[in-house]
Amino acid sequence: MGILKIKTTISKRTFDAVIVGAGGAGMRAALALSEAGLKVAVLSKVFPTRSHTVAAQGGIAAALGNVTPDNWRWHMYDTVKGSDYLGDQDAIEFMCRTAAEVVYELEHFGMPFDRLDDGKIYQRPFGGHMRDFGAALAQRACAVADRTGHALLHTLYQRNVRADTHFFVEWMALDLVRDEDGDVLGVTAMEIETGEVMLLEARATLFATGGAARIFAASTNAYINTGDGLGMAARAGIPLQDMEFFQFHPTGVYDAGVLISEGARGEGGYLVNKHGDRFMPNYAPTAQDLASRDVVSRAIATEIKEGRGCGPRGDHVLLKIDHLGEDVIRSRLPGARDIALKFAHIDPVREPIPVTPTAHYMMGGIPANYHGQVVVPQRGEPEEVVRGFYAVGECACVSVHGANRLGCNSLLDLLVFGREAARQIVEDLARNPHPKPLPNDAADRSLERLARLDARHDGESVAEVGDAMRRVMQTHCGVFRFPDLLAEGVHEIVAVAERVKNVVIRDKSKVFNTARVEALELDNLIEVAQATMHAAAAREESRGAHARDDFPHRDDDHWLKHSLYFSANRQLDYKPVRLKPMTVESFPPKERVY
Ligand code: FUM
Repeated sequence: MGILKIKTTISKRTFDAVIVGAGGAGMRAALALSEAGLKVAVLSKVFPTRSHTVAAQGGIAAALGNVTPDNWRWHMYDTVKGSDYLGDQDAIEFMCRTAAEVVYELEHFGMPFDRLDDGKIYQRPFGGHMRDFGAALAQRACAVADRTGHALLHTLYQRNVRADTHFFVEWMALDLVRDEDGDVLGVTAMEIETGEVMLLEARATLFATGGAARIFAASTNAYINTGDGLGMAARAGIPLQDMEFFQFHPTGVYDAGVLISEGARGEGGYLVNKHGDRFMPNYAPTAQDLASRDVVSRAIATEIKEGRGCGPRGDHVLLKIDHLGEDVIRSRLPGARDIALKFAHIDPVREPIPVTPTAHYMMGGIPANYHGQVVVPQRGEPEEVVRGFYAVGECACVSVHGANRLGCNSLLDLLVFGREAARQIVEDLARNPHPKPLPNDAADRSLERLARLDARHDGESVAEVGDAMRRVMQTHCGVFRFPDLLAEGVHEIVAVAERVKNVVIRDKSKVFNTARVEALELDNLIEVAQATMHAAAAREESRGAHARDDFPHRDDDHWLKHSLYFSANRQLDYKPVRLKPMTVESFPPKERVY
């Protein structure tokens, strides 16, 4: 079967709201919008319950205090500190204050949380979550074994089916539709099976497209995490915020990348080097193995660099959970055991798991306020809302994670801001009941992109150029960043971007248009990779996940600001961090120790 020709006249469907992405953020927003009586479409490249939220393991952060005393202000403090003071404190307050409410709401939706003996939701310790403003560990992660994301996604999907949300399954969004005022009026999208292109017109377009750690060679992310929302936004002239901050999760399975949940350390697991020594107490005397991820990943990288790594190449460390006993492992960490058996070929009931830091989460993204509205700064002018455009979840930068996200705050983020964006959309649509007309050329950019791709016969394959991109990112922009490698990385990633323009689809006979989809995904990934490399080379300090060898300290005098990368001219601009919370005292930057 050959690739179907792109039609030149394309069909159009009209909705009140179009949501791109059916992970937790998209589905939480869709549910609220459908329940408000709006006509809602959700586009997803995969069946909704296969979205990457399904892979989230350890839990949802909320200061319920079911096991240890807790308080949302401690959670807020931990999140501000975890962000290395780059997070916007108004948004962080909003998130931490709302956390209990969105978790109880989920419980009422039927989410099958693990339970304590008294019937309350089970909570485990997680990295960087502490009591009394950093004094001792808190148990704050609300968990369903180590399959929390799986339970969350299925719960939200079922509620959406009941609420009559319309799903476009195996459809890929191609481009944003903006009119001459810059307002967003919908998206173009392609059905993966047939290649049919369609215009989805909407008064509100919400991106919930997830992350893009697939720009790296070693990643915990699913193959679908290709930064589609960021690519579409960048091509439509929206800057990308704080892209230098990519999180490396400390415990990806060595040589496979698949995630072993921080929940394993939350349940009492710990890391050892080749001598069998626990090393985290040397780096984080109080939180130890449950320090924040940037700290633990750097500690592992340092152990390896200084010759204490394990294995013949000395390039990983070991995660021990065997001392927890088979019962705890079976009940609390069944997923970690399965993953260790399948990907590391060891049974963690008996042996330690080989692990290494692996690209996991993008702190940056499409700039959005805490109502989910996309906000674009005007040079020298206040930020302006892009009318009709919203972003939530990992693809958005609100910024609640700043320079380093705490574990479990991502599931919280997508619930809080998915719901809040929906509330804002309902309000905005009530104010603007009439759709603006679509421009005549609404689909041209997408159709031309597809036509160019199909017409090319000479060039490199998507796989070759994609590999080159992933190698450049892995080598030049890892856990520790070096000035010469960053400078070379900028040149190399720009060169890869030129190659992306000439990729060819070699196997034009493939069914389901997968070759074409991979080429379109590469268009998006390369936008993310370039933004990340340029922003990392420009930030001359170390903060959170961005650790520079030549600037080893945080520099609040010069760099307490968010970066904004503009794809059209590959330029960066900056805007101040919002240090003022909504109702409480702010947490001023101070030395960060765990
Ligand atoms: O380690 C984990 O279970 C991952 C959680 C997260 O990224 O929030």
